[in-house]
Amino acid sequence: MLICNSTITINKSSCNHKFPSKTYFISTSLSVSLKQLRRIRMANRILVISTFISISFSMVASFEPSPLQDFCVADPTSSARVNGLACLDSNMVQANHFSFSGLHIPGNTSNALGSAVTPAFVGQIPGLNTLGISMARIDYAPWGLIPPHSHPRATEILTVLEGRLLVGFVTSNPDNRLITKVLEKGDVFVFPIGLVHFQRNVGLGSAFSISSLSSQNPGVVLVANTLFGSTPSIPNDILAKAFQVDKSVVVKLQAQF
Ligand SMILES: *[C@@H]1O[C@H](CO)[C@@H](O)[C@H](O)[C@H]1NC(C)=O
Repeated sequence: MLICNSTITINKSSCNHKFPSKTYFISTSLSVSLKQLRRIRMANRILVISTFISISFSMVASFEPSPLQDFCVADPTSSARVNGLACLDSNMVQANHFSFSGLHIPGNTSNALGSAVTPAFVGQIPGLNTLGISMARIDYAPWGLIPPHSHPRATEILTVLEGRLLVGFVTSNPDNRLITKVLEKGDVFVFPIGLVHFQRNVGLGSAFSISSLSSQNPGVVLVANTLFGSTPSIPNDILAKAFQVDKSVVVKLQAQF
C-alpha cells in the first residue's frame, strides 16, 4: 500500500516498495538537497495518508463503526449507552454467544401475508454486537408476500433456497424506478440500503430464502404499517392530501393496520 515507513502500516509485506522519484515535482530546482527531497517525500506521504484516511472515513462513517476489539458480545442487562449494546465482560463470553440454532426450521406462514421471518440479529446472537452483519430466514406460503419495506441500516443480499420468488425494489425520487426479477432456487439478489423492496412467492409450492444484512440490527420500516398503522395515527387529512384520495379511503386503510 501507499502507507509505508510511517506510523500507519497496513501491510508490512508491501513496504519494500519505494515511490518512483518521478512522482515528485522537483524539476523547478535541480539543486535540491537530499534533505529537502526527503522533506518533500514526507509531505507527499502525509498528503497521501490524510487523503486515504479521509476517503476511508467518508465511506464508512454512515455505517456501523469498525469494532475496536475482537468482539463486544452484547450485555442486555447493562444500562451503559453506546452505539449498539454494551460489552459483556470477555471472561464471561461463551461459544453460545456467537451461535444460533433453528434456521433450518420453517417459520409459520399461517397469517394474512403468508410469510414468516426468522431473524438472527443481535437480539438472537449477542456476539453480533458492533460487527455490522446479521441474517434471517424467510418462509413464503404459495403467493406469500413480504410487503414493501426498507431497512434503514442495512443492505440485504438474499438467496433463494427453495421455490421461486418475484423480488423488486424502487429507486429513490425522482426516478422511482421499479427494478424486479424472478429468482429461481440458488439465485441471489441485492436490495440496496434504505430502498423500499418486496418479495413474493410466485412458484407452485412454498418457498424459502436466506438473507444476509449489513447491520447487526437492520431495522424494518413497513411502508403500510408506518403510514396507516402508526401510534398515534398520522392525521387523516395529511394522508388524504399526500395520497390525493378522499379521507374515507384513508380511514379504510387505517382500519387494516
Ligand atoms: C401457526 O400460526 C397460526 C396462527 O397464529 C396458529 O393457529 C397455528 O397453530 C400455528 N401453527 C403452528 C404449527 O405453530
